[in-house]
Amino acid sequence: MATAAEAATTDANAMRRALALAARGLGSTSPNPVVGCVVLDAEGQLAGAGFHQRAGGPHAEVHALREAGERARGGTAYVTLEPCNHTGRTGPCAQALIAAGITRVVYAVADPNPQATGGADTLRAAGVRVEQGLLADEAEAGNAAWLTSVRLGRPYVRWKYAATLDGRIAAADSTSRWITSAEARADVHRLRAEADAVIVGSGTMRADDPHLAVRGTDGTDGVNQPLRVVVDTDATAVKRGARVLDDAAPTLIAVAEDADAAHLAEAGAEVVRLPRAATGLDIHALLAALHTRGVRSVLLEGGPTLAGAFVAAGAVDTVTGYLAPVLLGAGPAALADAGITTITEALRLDVTETVRVGPDLRITAVPATPVSKEH
Ligand SMILES: NC(=O)c1ccc[n+]([C@@H]2O[C@H](COP(=O)([O-])OP(=O)(O)OC[C@H]3O[C@@H](n4cnc5c(N)ncnc54)[C@H](OP(=O)(O)O)[C@@H]3O)[C@@H](O)[C@H]2O)c1
Repeated sequence: MATAAEAATTDANAMRRALALAARGLGSTSPNPVVGCVVLDAEGQLAGAGFHQRAGGPHAEVHALREAGERARGGTAYVTLEPCNHTGRTGPCAQALIAAGITRVVYAVADPNPQATGGADTLRAAGVRVEQGLLADEAEAGNAAWLTSVRLGRPYVRWKYAATLDGRIAAADSTSRWITSAEARADVHRLRAEADAVIVGSGTMRADDPHLAVRGTDGTDGVNQPLRVVVDTDATAVKRGARVLDDAAPTLIAVAEDADAAHLAEAGAEVVRLPRAATGLDIHALLAALHTRGVRSVLLEGGPTLAGAFVAAGAVDTVTGYLAPVLLGAGPAALADAGITTITEALRLDVTETVRVGPDLRITAVPATPVSKEH
C-alpha cells in the first residue's frame, strides 16, 4: 500500500505526463482545446496515454483508453481538462471512461464550454471518484488560448514584436531588416504555427510586404498554416502580387464596409467587411468576425499602430517581445498610442518567462489584471 506522499507523487507525475502530451497538440486541435490523458492501472502502473491530436479526431481519453484496454478496469485516468459530456464529432468521454471501468478520474481544469461541461457530474453519478485541480495552473497556461476564447467569446491575442534594446522596431529611415537574429525569427515561426491566425496592419503591409506563412528549417510538411489577416481599412495596402496573396496559406483582408475591394476579390483573396472606428477598423468587430470563423488564437505581428489599438481595446492577452542587443536611438517605438496618457493608466504586466534565443532575449508577459469580458 502506497503512503499518502507516494500516492501524491504518482498523481503529480501522471498529470505532468498528461500535460506534456497535451502540449503536443498545440497548433492542430483548434477550435478544440489541447488535452492530454494518462491511464494508470489498478496497481498504479502506466497502462495508456494519449492526446487530442486534431479537431474531429478522437479525444485524449479515447486514445489513452484504447491503449490501456482491459487494464483500464479499476484504474485512474488523469486528464488535463474535465472530460467532456457531450456527443460532438466524437462520443462523450465521461461515458467512455465509465464504460472502460475507470474508478477514479483526476482532472486539472474544469471545462467552461457550456456544451461540454458536466462530465464530472456524470462520472460521479456513475460512482467514479472525481478530483479536480491537480496542477491546475500549469494546465490553465497550457490551454490559455482555448480557455480565453471560450470565456471571453473572442480569440486569444498574443502581441509579438521584435525590438532593439532601446525599444525600437525600425530605424528612422524605416529600414528594419533584420533587428533580431535568425534564431529569434525561427522562434516566431513556431509561434505562428501555434496560432490560428496572424494579423498585421496596413502600415506593415506597405512597408514590408510580409508573407506571414510558417517556414521551418526542418520542413513545413504537416505544419499548421494560420490564416493570414491584413487589416486594410480602405483596401489600398494589399496590392495585386502581394506576397500574402499567394497560396501558401489562406488569407483574409479586413476592410471597411464602404471600401472598394473589387481588386482583392479578383485576386482570389477573401474579404471581410467591418465597421470603421475613430481610426481604422473596429477591433472588437474584427475579433468577433475571426471568432465566428473558428479562430481561437491570433498572433498579432504589428505594427505599432495596430498593436496600440489592440491594447486600447483591452484585447491583448500576452505580450512576447524579442529584444536584440542593438541600439538605434531613433525610429518608431514598439507600441504606438494605446490611449494611455498618464503613468497611473500604464498597463502593468507580469513577466511569465525570459529566455535567451540566440543572441536575443524573449520576454513573455501577461496583463497583471487579467483581461475581462467587459471590454
Ligand atoms: N519589428 C517588429 O516587430 C515589427 C512588426 C511589424 C511591423 N514593423 C514595422 O512597423 C512599421 C509599420 O508600422 P505602422 O504602425 O505604420 O503600421 P501597422 O500598425 O502595421 O498598421 C497601421 C495601420 O493599420 C490600419 N488600421 C486598421 N484598423 C486600425 C485600428 N483600429 N487602429 C489603428 N490602425 C488601424 C491603419 O491604416 P488604414 O486605416 O489605412 O488601414 C493604420 O495606419 C514598419 O516599418 C514595419 O517594418 C515592425
